[in-house]
Amino acid sequence: MPIATFSSFTDGLNHDQRSRDHFITNINLEDDRLWVPYAEGVWFQPCHFNVTSGGFSVVLKGLPGSRIGTHYHVGTVHGYTLRGFWRYLEHDWVAKPGTFIYEPAGEAHTLVITEDSPEPMVALFVVGGGLIYLDKPLDGCFAAYEDGFSILELCRKHYRQAGLDVRQLDLLVR
Ligand SMILES: [Fe+2]
Repeated sequence: MPIATFSSFTDGLNHDQRSRDHFITNINLEDDRLWVPYAEGVWFQPCHFNVTSGGFSVVLKGLPGSRIGTHYHVGTVHGYTLRGFWRYLEHDWVAKPGTFIYEPAGEAHTLVITEDSPEPMVALFVVGGGLIYLDKPLDGCFAAYEDGFSILELCRKHYRQAGLDVRQLDLLVR
């Protein structure tokens, strides 16, 4: 859940739990329990919590017609579409399976899964830093903040509620 008030955040791990090693993880698109609810009709599965940059990597899933509210990126975004159609309201292209997108830091946009998407959209996003939710698309003001720490907390909460092994999330922290 995005945060609206601030204090210091950490990954919550003990020093001897922290790793700088490489890792792999497997995303199971078909296991409904693993999808963390994010917005109405939108879920994600975490791939990497970047507690070094404040960024994160996720596989996002959204139903046709759903959206993620307008937000501003303080870092870069790389994205790759696996299923479905989606777009940003601020651009005139439509991403489809196979579409890769690079976004420089400093962009505000609104992600929508198009109504004519033939199936739920599934896309990998590598987010370089935090993002700021805005109260309106044009000249918007701060509404809430999201980053690798708030995403990690949201995932831990979901895993506890769903009876999943929360320690699996620790393996994705770098
Ligand atoms: Fe974004």
